[in-house]
Amino acid sequence: MIIAIDGPAGSGKSTIAKLTAVRLGFAYLDTGAMYRAITIRALEDGLDPEDTQAAWAIVEIAQAALISFGYTEGEALPTQVFIDGRDVTFEIRTPLADRYVSAVSALPAVRAALSKQQRRLGAERDTVMEGRDIGTVVFPHAELKVFLTASPQERARRRAQQNVKRGVDQTDEAVILAEIMRRDAYDSSREVAPLAMASDAILLDTTELTIDEVVDRIAVLVNEKRT
Ligand code: DC
Repeated sequence: MIIAIDGPAGSGKSTIAKLTAVRLGFAYLDTGAMYRAITIRALEDGLDPEDTQAAWAIVEIAQAALISFGYTEGEALPTQVFIDGRDVTFEIRTPLADRYVSAVSALPAVRAALSKQQRRLGAERDTVMEGRDIGTVVFPHAELKVFLTASPQERARRRAQQNVKRGVDQTDEAVILAEIMRRDAYDSSREVAPLAMASDAILLDTTELTIDEVVDRIAVLVNEKRT
């Protein structure tokens, strides 16, 4: 069974997808981390993702690179992200990755390469998969599709808190809000697989809900699908 959880940055997707996976005993796949890992590799190779001339080299990275997830002993969910065996867990969450990941994820051939890997991983086990296009493109026949939203202000507040916890420098809510709005606009307007809700997805606005309330709702939806 595939549970597709899509939505914009800061909608609570990661936290909710992880807790849902733990509660149901499903695998968890963070597809945004895959786009971020390609972004880090591209930057390390000296490529500018916003330069159209760099597109082909970035596509080659996406087609050849092996992205994998690592587990810490005793943890149910993956805690590390590797690209070609190198740990990029911290790098993929930096403002630099935030800045360039939209340009990388707007490249159609990058999306095709990563979607292929995501379908393969999803076919192996019951999986909660989070991203932007899981219910629309990667798994259009997912048994359950949830689209999470929250107000931009609430999303900026959550991301600022997360950055404090992770030790990421950028913790100014106003700056984060501007970055979130920029990324929303970019992700929603790109030609290939824009951020959009599948017609058969269930919309959950998390602005006023606690994490547990959202996970409870998803668990109820899963039970309804199973019976
Ligand atoms: O969920 P996130 O913030 O880690 O995602 C990082 C970026 O990757 C985001 O700008 C949108 C893009 N992305 C995408 O285009 N498709 C996905 N399935 C997942 C993420």
